Amino acid sequence: MAKLKLKNGAKKLIMIVLVIGLLSFLGLYSYSKIKSKKEYEQTYNFKLSELQYNEKDIELLIKNLKEKDLDYILENEKSDIYVNLINSKYFIYDNFYTYLEYYNSNKDKTINEIVEKVNTHTNKEYYTDPLKTDISKKELMLVNKYYYLEQDYEPENLVTIPQTYSYGELGSQKVTESTYDAFLNLWNASNEAGYYLMVNSSYRTYEKQQAVYDDYKNTGGTNYADSIAARPGFSEHQTGYSLDIFEKGYSSANFKDSESYRWLMDNAYKYGFILRYPEDKVDITGYSYESWHFRYVGVEAATYIHENNITFDEYYAYFVK
Ligand code: DAL
Ligand code: ZN
Repeated sequence: MAKLKLKNGAKKLIMIVLVIGLLSFLGLYSYSKIKSKKEYEQTYNFKLSELQYNEKDIELLIKNLKEKDLDYILENEKSDIYVNLINSKYFIYDNFYTYLEYYNSNKDKTINEIVEKVNTHTNKEYYTDPLKTDISKKELMLVNKYYYLEQDYEPENLVTIPQTYSYGELGSQKVTESTYDAFLNLWNASNEAGYYLMVNSSYRTYEKQQAVYDDYKNTGGTNYADSIAARPGFSEHQTGYSLDIFEKGYSSANFKDSESYRWLMDNAYKYGFILRYPEDKVDITGYSYESWHFRYVGVEAATYIHENNITFDEYYAYFVK
């Protein structure tokens, strides 16, 4: 009997231990459930889903933005603008708030236009807050209405373009050595195709550019001058990487109708040149169409610009800066 009693006692003890164990397990389990629910509610995933962003958008926002940006989004009404901006081909993270600011006062513009305008600074008036350009970028340096060169900047390795290929006195047309080498290749290829290209303008000093600009200003006023000439310090001609090119016998009035111009449009990029102020990009470049102004940027950049139909200003913002 005593043996049996002992056995029952042991059974009871085991039962008690089991019950306590089970209760503690259940307690701990629900505690951890509540805890992990609370933790989940603190996540951007949860908070953004509460604002009705879908899973795919949440993933994109979290992947591309920082916590402060996600907090900003949570403080505002749900909007597609954030996802649309990120999905835009040339979205630059550093410009995120400038895009939003510009979008708020330009809701008629497409997302790509907003990105393009902000990336190229053309959301601001020309010549507003200009920056000294980074000359270490060499043939990829940007000089436009927002990036300038100092008055005394003179390119290294300037070489004279012989009169075989240029107008004016010997020594009056110069470009950087790399531009000249590329130009010779371009010239030879164009000549084989049956054309004879001539350089009409190339490297210009700050002072020379001042004279060019002032001439236009005196003739037609500031707006007119600004549409066709750069203010001194803001001209690509001062970089030594720009060339005004015409087919022999043509001028600015009719070069765009020449076969050689068509040839250049199809082939110049192969030698590292781009048409810098195209007809359909006036809003970005700030200059009226110049069918003759070519810029040496190297084959890689020129090929991308040609294939994607963008300006050098956009290319610089996205790939060089
Ligand atoms: N014509 C171009 C824009 C210049 O003056 O540099
Ligand atoms: Zn030019």
